[in-house]
Amino acid sequence: MNATRNRNQGFPHIRWLIRRDLPAVLRIEDASFREPWTEDEFVRSLRLRNVIGMVAEHEDMVIGYMIYELHRDSIHLLSIAVHPDFRRQGVGKAMLTKLASKLVYQRRGKITTLASEINLDAQVFLRDYGFRATEVVKDHYHPDEDAYFFEYRQPVTASVWESTE
Ligand SMILES: CC(C)(COP(=O)(O)OP(=O)(O)OC[C@H]1O[C@@H](n2cnc3c(N)ncnc32)[C@H](O)[C@@H]1OP(=O)(O)O)[C@@H](O)C(=O)NCCC(=O)NCCS
Repeated sequence: MNATRNRNQGFPHIRWLIRRDLPAVLRIEDASFREPWTEDEFVRSLRLRNVIGMVAEHEDMVIGYMIYELHRDSIHLLSIAVHPDFRRQGVGKAMLTKLASKLVYQRRGKITTLASEINLDAQVFLRDYGFRATEVVKDHYHPDEDAYFFEYRQPVTASVWESTE
């Protein structure tokens, strides 16, 4: 797969996650996390009214997914992963951009998420997008594995200020 070509073709396509996507999502999940969610955990989460799943696809193949919770003031990203064969091609960033487009100025103004202290790829990925680590959550994953709490706030642009006048 050619990363440069992909970045130049409006790639990937991002849409709602549907039940039929779950086998592909589970394969990505298994290839991405030491303690992957089970199908049952995905189904139970996605049944909640404020939880939404989206997938990134390319040529009818699911190559990434994200799951997030809508809160009154923020969006909490529960999980995001990209198929190993499609990493470093802008797929994760495209999904974050989709998520950031759902922020509403002065209302749902930030995205939050957690990353393990040992998941350096995730930390660099989040920082590259503009997330900042604001807190350490002690023993979040295991008794000896902390998490960093990351926050992203939509940059305030001139047009936003103009539109509030
Ligand atoms: C983290 C993850 C979602 C990134 O997805 P991706 O599609 O590969 O990320 P992108 O190609 O959009 O990367 C955007 C930028 O983030 C940074 N980045 C992403 N992965 C990186 C890595 N492994 N090492 C260093 N920087 C990285 C780079 O700055 C990159 O830009 P560049 O490729 O132009 O240098 C993917 O590696 C993954 O699925 N990991 C396993 C699951 C996981 O850890 N999820 C938790 C994320 S919070």
